[in-house]
Amino acid sequence: MQIRVVTARPWEVSADLLVVPVVGDPVFTDELAELDRRSGGELRALEAFGELRPKAYAAALGAPGELPVRRVLAVSGGKVDEFDREIARRVAASVPRRLIGRNVGSMAVWLAPLAAALGADEALAAELVARGIVEGGFEPKTIYREDSDAAPPQVDELVLIGASDADGALLSAGATRGQVIGEGANIARRLANRAANDVTPIVLADEARAIAEAHGLAIDVIDERRAAELGMGLFLAVGKGSDNPPRMIVMRSGDEGAQDGLGRRLALVGKGVCFDTGGISIKPADRMEEMKMDKTGACTVIAAIATAARLAPGLPLIAVAPAVENMPSGHATRPGDVVKALNGTWVDITNTDAEGRLILGDAMTYAEQLGATHLVDVATLTGAVSRAFGDMVTGAFASEDAWWEQVAAAGDRAGERYWRIPLVPDYVPDMDSWYGDVTNSGSAEGSLVKSGMFLDRFHTVPWAHLDIGGTGYYRKAYPFAARGAGGVTHATLVELALAGRG
Ligand code: BES
Ligand code: MN
Ligand code: ZN
Repeated sequence: MQIRVVTARPWEVSADLLVVPVVGDPVFTDELAELDRRSGGELRALEAFGELRPKAYAAALGAPGELPVRRVLAVSGGKVDEFDREIARRVAASVPRRLIGRNVGSMAVWLAPLAAALGADEALAAELVARGIVEGGFEPKTIYREDSDAAPPQVDELVLIGASDADGALLSAGATRGQVIGEGANIARRLANRAANDVTPIVLADEARAIAEAHGLAIDVIDERRAAELGMGLFLAVGKGSDNPPRMIVMRSGDEGAQDGLGRRLALVGKGVCFDTGGISIKPADRMEEMKMDKTGACTVIAAIATAARLAPGLPLIAVAPAVENMPSGHATRPGDVVKALNGTWVDITNTDAEGRLILGDAMTYAEQLGATHLVDVATLTGAVSRAFGDMVTGAFASEDAWWEQVAAAGDRAGERYWRIPLVPDYVPDMDSWYGDVTNSGSAEGSLVKSGMFLDRFHTVPWAHLDIGGTGYYRKAYPFAARGAGGVTHATLVELALAGRG
C-alpha cells in the first residue's frame, strides 16, 4: 500500500472511497457542511436516519453525490470525552474491516476531525490513521487459506488529507512512522496466530533469523546443548518435555556494548511458549487450542526490534526470546523437580504449568549477562491478569518508579493501556520451598502478584513486566481487529526504544 499525503479540502481528492471521521455528534458547519452539501445531503440524511450516533467504530456507507469518489464512509470516534490515541487508531483500523468483501483500490481519509480531537495534532493523526489502516488490514484467515474471501480489500493507495495550511513534510513523516509500526505489529500477529504444528521453537528461530537478516540485526540462536553449557536450567526444564527442542533466540541492533542516548542498553524479553499444554500439570481440554498463542510475547519482541531498526538504524537494543514447547512426556519435568537457574537460584517446580516465569527468569539473566541495563519483558504469563483486566488493559509490574514512568510514557505515546500492579514482598514466604530457594507457584491468593514476585528474583537492573495474558489475543472479533493476536505492546516497545535516540 502506497501512502500519499495531500494538503487539500476533503472534497478535492478523488478515490474509490472517502472516509469521514466524526468524533461526538456531527456538527454541520464549515467543511462538514460543505461535504454534506456536495454529497447531496447524504451525511445529514445518514444522521437523521440514526446512522451517525457517537458510538465508537460505528460506520455508515453513503452515496457520494457530486464528490469525486464512489462511496463515502462516515465512521464514529465515539464520545468526545472518551476519545484518545487508542480510539483514533482503532477508528482507522475499523475501516478496512468494515470494507471486507468490497472493491476498494484507493481510499482517502480526512484527517481534520481526528487531528482536532487529538489536540490539533495533524502529524499524530496521520501516524495513527496510517498505523490503524495497516493493522485493520490484517486478517488471520488468510494465513493458511490465501483464497479466503474474509480479507479486507487490498488497497493500493491510501491518501491522507491534511488541512490546506498543514506542513506536508511533517504529515508524511507521521504517516511513514505509523505505517512502519503497523507493519511490525502485523508481523508479530501473523507469527503469533500461526499454529503449533507450523511454528515450533526451531521455526520461530528461523523466522527470527530471516527478520534479522532483512534488517541488518545480529542474531544468535542458542540450542539445547549450549543452553546446558551456559547453565540455563529453568529454560531447559520447560523445553525437555517436547520432541521439538528449545531455542533461546537472541537479537541485537547497534554495536556490541553500545548505549543509547539515555545511557541505556535496553533488552526486550518475550515469552515464546509455542504451545502450552501445562506439561505434567496438564491443562483442561477446554480452549487448550488457544495455547498456541503462548508465544505472542516472543513474536512481539522479535518484531519490535526489527521495527525499531527500521525507524532508527543502529540504535542499541537487545531482544531475547526463549522459545519452547511445554509438553508432557517421558522426559518432561515432573512437579517437585528442583532445578538450578542461570543466576544460581534453585527452583522447586511445583507446577509445570507455571512455565513462562521459568523461561523468562533465565532469559532475563542472560540479557543482563549480555550487558542489558534495563529490562522489559512481555508475556502471556497468567490467566489471572485476564480475569482481572480483560482484553483491553495490560497488567504491568515494575521494579522502580523511574523506569515505570519511562514505560508508561511510551505506552501513552503508543496509545496502549496499562495498569501497574504492586510487587508485594510480603507474599514471598508463600512461595518458600523445602528443597530449593523458591517454588514457581504458590497458593491461588494473590497469584498474579506472585507471578511478578517470582520474576523479581531474576534481575539486578531496572525491570518492567507486561502481562498480556488477557490482551495478547482477542477471543472474539472486534470492529477494529480480527479474532486472534492484536499486536499489543509492540508499539509501546518501539516507543520505549526510540526514546533512546540520540
Ligand atoms: N500461558 C498460561 C497463561 C494463560 C492462560 C494466558 C490463559 C492466556 C490465557 C501460563 O503458562 C499459565 O498456565 N499460567 C498459570 C499459572 C499458574 C499455574 C500459577 C495460570 O494462569 O493458571
Ligand atoms: Mn502454563
Ligand atoms: Zn504459558
